[in-house]
Amino acid sequence: MIAEYPPQLLAEVKAKTAGCQLTGFTPGQGPINPDLMLVGEAPGRHEEKVNIPFSGASGQELMGFIESIGYSRSTVYITSVVRQRPYSIKKVKDKKTGELIEKHPNRTPTKKEVLAFAPLFDWELATVKPRLIVPLGNTALQRLLGRNANIGELHGQLLHQKIQQANANHDGYQMSPTKYWIMPMYHPAAVLYARRLEPTIKDDWQKLGREIKILKK
Ligand code: URA
Repeated sequence: MIAEYPPQLLAEVKAKTAGCQLTGFTPGQGPINPDLMLVGEAPGRHEEKVNIPFSGASGQELMGFIESIGYSRSTVYITSVVRQRPYSIKKVKDKKTGELIEKHPNRTPTKKEVLAFAPLFDWELATVKPRLIVPLGNTALQRLLGRNANIGELHGQLLHQKIQQANANHDGYQMSPTKYWIMPMYHPAAVLYARRLEPTIKDDWQKLGREIKILKK
């Protein structure tokens, strides 16, 4: 397990996200030097409550996929590019009382929020040192490979390339000096709203299982 996040990086996130609709703080979880580092988008409501990444409905799907290739929650590192739950504010009518009530549903993090967390994520990656990075869905993929990367095109492909890191001023990205092994995967929530993707996602995970064995040789 990694030690605490560096306080100066946490303070920087706090300053840069002041005024953003973000709540809670769910740390990444798992062993150092794992075969796989799974990178999601941001914690959702369930993760915020229990403080465990991917512990809600999409987490259950994800556990099924990682167990299908012989791994488990305790043998992989699980994190996301944003460590707080992004929410929006919606006023809805209570069905029983007719009163207007405020709801705070999950939302996708903004580019500004992802950049605010970039130095923290860079530190986490450098500390964890996984053999293979597995971005789950477009938010994580584009954080690593840039805005033109698309999960529909790159899912299930083994890549060896430089990734985006926060630049020296932490106001944008630069490419990393070294290359990383990456295999992008659909976000496990994709299965929940598009069951037709399930066979493709299962095939991608089997491919990942084969590729990581080769990388370990
Ligand atoms: N989605 C993510 O990207 N991360 C979580 O922890 C849960 C849902």
